[in-house]
Amino acid sequence: MKNTQVLLARRPVGRPVQEDFRVIESEVPPIRDGEALLENQFISLDAGFRNWMNEDAGDEVLPAMSIDEPVMGLVAATVAESKREDLTPGQVIVGRTAWEAFSIAGPGELMTPVQSKYGLSANYYLGVMGDTGLSAYFGLDRVAAVKSGETVLISAAGGAVGNAAGQIAKAMGAGRVVGFAGSEEKCRWLEEEVGYDATINYKEGDLDQLIQETCPDGIDVYFDNVGGDLLEPVLNHINYGARIPFCGAVADYATEQGTGPSNLFRLVANCSRLEGFMTHYWMDDYESARDILAGWLDDGSLKNFETRYPGVESCGQAYEDLFAGKNFGKAIVVV
Ligand SMILES: NC(=O)c1ccc[n+]([C@@H]2O[C@H](COP(=O)([O-])OP(=O)(O)OC[C@H]3O[C@@H](n4cnc5c(N)ncnc54)[C@H](OP(=O)(O)O)[C@@H]3O)[C@@H](O)[C@H]2O)c1
Repeated sequence: MKNTQVLLARRPVGRPVQEDFRVIESEVPPIRDGEALLENQFISLDAGFRNWMNEDAGDEVLPAMSIDEPVMGLVAATVAESKREDLTPGQVIVGRTAWEAFSIAGPGELMTPVQSKYGLSANYYLGVMGDTGLSAYFGLDRVAAVKSGETVLISAAGGAVGNAAGQIAKAMGAGRVVGFAGSEEKCRWLEEEVGYDATINYKEGDLDQLIQETCPDGIDVYFDNVGGDLLEPVLNHINYGARIPFCGAVADYATEQGTGPSNLFRLVANCSRLEGFMTHYWMDDYESARDILAGWLDDGSLKNFETRYPGVESCGQAYEDLFAGKNFGKAIVVV
């Protein structure tokens, strides 16, 4: 059986581009005892995985990706054949394998069955019901503990985590939800379709003034997906006791030199807290969180927005587009 795989052809410098990746055809090897063959349905494009494309990026969370090996990625897949006791053919799972049409799940590799009780298709488990939605939920619930009526500002608001965070903040009772996005078109979409109260195109204008205008009562929660220079003007507008769940640093993934604010004392003066988090440390709470997210999907307060790309071959283009901000919602490849 033929496989299509996307390899890491070279280590990206700065923003990833299509040429950093190479598509090959290969044979799917027969599975051995303890393995299962997965037929991938959807591949998730995740900004955070850019970090593990760097040399020596391996850490206790994930190994660094290797050159000429399939690019590591999250997939939603159907089990095609199994010699693993915990997986049966026909089962739908979500797991970390690679950008490829078929994957082999090795012994003990974590493959999470999709819960049929919600009646949702597999792509949801890469979007609002997956790491994406769960990151938005845990950041707002566990780290920020959003309170009714508060003003929540979100960076990369039109991205996968960001659009979910905006909707979830509203569902939690935030009084005003404001987002940073990189184009006028994305800002309009956020306000007209996703439900943001206001947006700021962070590439244009005087950010201090725009934050003042869109967050007139100051910022209680800044859900930060981006890091970098945006944090500085935000800190000038935080309220006493503000919380900053620090979800990711897209601005720094693709730069040689990290950037950051020069006014961190604003945190001290406002008795505020900036706290990083990794969603997978709450794995034991995924099911209870998904019950809540499913409730919001049911009552219409949460929607799963996606930008879809056709075929495994398009992974490289989709990943380039992600860093150019072309995705509206979750970037996903339909295999
Ligand atoms: N902590 C965790 O456990 C966890 C789990 C999942 C994801 N994350 C993090 O969540 C963040 C979002 O990830 P995602 O996969 O959902 O990606 P995404 O938000 O769908 O895509 C990235 C977005 O970032 C924006 N962007 C790119 N470069 C930027 C820059 N220099 N400054 C400001 N914005 C920039 C772009 O939108 P614009 O059009 O607005 O520029 C782009 O659409 C990442 O930092 C990721 O690492 C964390």
